[in-house]
Amino acid sequence: MSVLEVQQLSYQSGAEQILTRVTFSVSKGEYLAISGPSGGGKSTLLKLIASLLTPTGGKILFNGKDQKAYPVTGYRRRVSYCFQQPTLFGETVRNNTEFPFTIRNEVFSEDKVRDLLRLVDLPVSFLDKPIIELSGGERQRVALIRNLIFLPEVLLLDEVTVGLDEESKRIVQQLVKNVHQQGVTILQVSHDEEDLQQAGGVLKMEGGRLAHGAIGR
Ligand SMILES: Nc1ncnc2c1ncn2[C@@H]1O[C@H](COP(=O)(O)OP(=O)(O)O)[C@@H](O)[C@H]1O
Ligand SMILES: [Mg+2]
Repeated sequence: MSVLEVQQLSYQSGAEQILTRVTFSVSKGEYLAISGPSGGGKSTLLKLIASLLTPTGGKILFNGKDQKAYPVTGYRRRVSYCFQQPTLFGETVRNNTEFPFTIRNEVFSEDKVRDLLRLVDLPVSFLDKPIIELSGGERQRVALIRNLIFLPEVLLLDEVTVGLDEESKRIVQQLVKNVHQQGVTILQVSHDEEDLQQAGGVLKMEGGRLAHGAIGR
């Protein structure tokens, strides 16, 4: 069963045609990478799937139903987008990890967050660390675990390993693998050879179009 069906998806901004009739589907539990030159439309595609942008043509089906039929907040919890340059807010790591509980009216589970911190190799003492003291790799890891406190059905990752040191990159890759093993469907934009190897297939995007026959390896 397809968890996502992208049908003839187009996106235009002003006079600029950014995506042109992109069609593909993603099976439940699949791990797909998206690669291709800068400016090819990869981030735009993920943002459309995340419902952060509205298509100007075509449609996206999620679990067989038009994306537009879902209430947007609920949809974004089920299809979660992790930004290329993550923004952390508040003052501490705790503030950021409390947020997913707050918006769901749930009690903060420090145990759950401690487990996730351990999983990305950050000390538990980081909970009360000011975010201004975090390195780039540490920020990216905090942003990721913030997305994973409540597992989405589909995780959209946009160049999350770019600019990370080898150690942070390895940890993030391990985390993504772990999340995939828990049954989460993953779409990951990346140029990193190891990320592409880890995925079960690679889509190539260029000039706002999907390169023909690019699925699989
Ligand atoms: N909101 C926008 N308005 C106009 N042009 C945009 C907008 N967003 C992206 N673009 C343009 O669309 C093209 C694809 O961008 P993007 O999806 O970010 O590509 P990629 O992630 O593959 O580098 C680029 O030429 C970019 O400049
Ligand atoms: Mg991009």
